[in-house]
Amino acid sequence: MAGSKIYRFDEVAKHDDAEDCWLIVSGKVYDVSSYMAEHPGGRDVLLSATGKDATVEFDNVGHSSSGRELMDNYCVGTIDSSTLPKDGDRVKPQQAPEGSADGTPEFVMRILQFIAPVMILGFAFVVRHFTK
Ligand code: HEM
Repeated sequence: MAGSKIYRFDEVAKHDDAEDCWLIVSGKVYDVSSYMAEHPGGRDVLLSATGKDATVEFDNVGHSSSGRELMDNYCVGTIDSSTLPKDGDRVKPQQAPEGSADGTPEFVMRILQFIAPVMILGFAFVVRHFTK
């Protein structure tokens, strides 16, 4: 039922539940409501792919060519790309701050790396000196 209608993002995003689930993949709009139960990847992944451009998620799974052919059965039209949210829904991976994961600056880490062995040596020296 490949449709030729052009949809706005907000129209598509309304269909975001298990009974009424639409997806946007590679500029096309899919009504997968009747496919939810059959989807080998499960219904939850399809639900989590609603309300956004799910092209990256879809591609990341590495769907087979038969999986891609199957999509045509559910295509209801195309998305007006000018209506897509600007940054999509893409969350940039968190940038680890320079230095340690808890945000300690790198130079502090270096000083600590230098001081720790010196302190251990000093401690060993003191223990030896006073336990003779
Ligand atoms: C109309 C849309 C879709 C169709 C027709 C479809 C179809 C399929 C098919 C046939 C498979 C079995 C493996 C294969 O042949 O590639 C599959 C697996 C899977 N799909 Fe989809 N899919 C769709 C959308 C999506 C989306 C949007 C996501 C993720 C956001 C997704 C996630 C997965 C996952 C996680 C698997 C399981 C992969 C595995 O366990 O190996 N699918 N899908």
